[in-house]
Amino acid sequence: MSSKNLDFGTFAQDVMLGLSASPKSLPSKYFYNAKGDKLFQKIMAMPEYYLTKKEFEIFETQYELILDPILNLDQPFNLVELGAGDGLKTKILLKYLKSRNADFEYFPIDFSGSVLQELEESLKDEFPDLSVTCLEDTYRGSLVKRLWDNGKPNLILFLGSNLGNFSQEEAFDILDHLRIGAAHGDFVLIGIDLKKDPQTILDAYHDPEGITRDFNLNLLDRINQELDGDIDLNTFKHWPCYDPISGECRSYLVSLKKQKINLKALDQSFDFEAFESVFTEISKKYSLKEIEQFAEKGGFESVQNFTDSENYFADVLWRRK
Ligand SMILES: C[S@@+](CC[C@H](N)C(=O)[O-])C[C@H]1O[C@@H](n2cnc3c(N)ncnc32)[C@H](O)[C@@H]1O
Repeated sequence: MSSKNLDFGTFAQDVMLGLSASPKSLPSKYFYNAKGDKLFQKIMAMPEYYLTKKEFEIFETQYELILDPILNLDQPFNLVELGAGDGLKTKILLKYLKSRNADFEYFPIDFSGSVLQELEESLKDEFPDLSVTCLEDTYRGSLVKRLWDNGKPNLILFLGSNLGNFSQEEAFDILDHLRIGAAHGDFVLIGIDLKKDPQTILDAYHDPEGITRDFNLNLLDRINQELDGDIDLNTFKHWPCYDPISGECRSYLVSLKKQKINLKALDQSFDFEAFESVFTEISKKYSLKEIEQFAEKGGFESVQNFTDSENYFADVLWRRK
């Protein structure tokens, strides 16, 4: 693995910045350490977390249609994946590509080194002949460096509603990076969570077992572990809420009392008023019409939209103009 590049700063710098701000916030990419990766795998298996199941259904039922455009080029290509995670759904595509004897190289990219290592090992087991280069990097960092660039056409995957983890404005910036990272004629497949019954959406971020709570609280646990903090996790409440107009499901950690937290490694402390919150994650839902506008604005032409049987989720295939 190579090329670590943080978007803005180190974990310590981002925590300092986020907890000094008003309102307080922490970047969601820090959810994903070894413990967070495991918790996210548990989330994906939860009955309420429809996102993974719906995208899985799309891949299982439409993999041929999804991959036809890149295969029809009839030349070697790269399969690049931003925020690959454990590659669960991508393996459906890999299996089909292998069955077609496609000549391609797979470049999974993720900010979490631990999940990349797990993915690398599982790929060695399940696809021993596959040519794989793991890149530990951020979305933006990897799209600027284009380490996969070997002159071959690319299919860039951005699955699992990863784009939804950005506000609309930030999403435009990511798409701008995607436009820079893709060469003319390259394909991009983006997994988008669609607007639907608000209760269905909220349930996915507020399960009765408390797995999503633990995932959110893991940010504070990570601060305790890595920055020698003294945060009592029981004094913070996981609070997700969904706004059906903006399509934003936002997660917060609410301090249940007035308190001071100390981060010994940084020799810093931060004051919390009772019920002061830390914004931790956005999971934005879109309509297909909004996504079409994204493609146009971002310099891509829409090739085809793939949806599941309930229209909960969409994988949109675009081509760089
Ligand atoms: C929601 S999970 C989705 C994983 C996988 N794409 C899927 O659909 O199951 C997001 C993944 O992206 C990674 N990630 C989050 N923010 C990132 C960033 N800014 N740059 C690179 N990877 C990031 C996380 O480590 C995690 O593995």
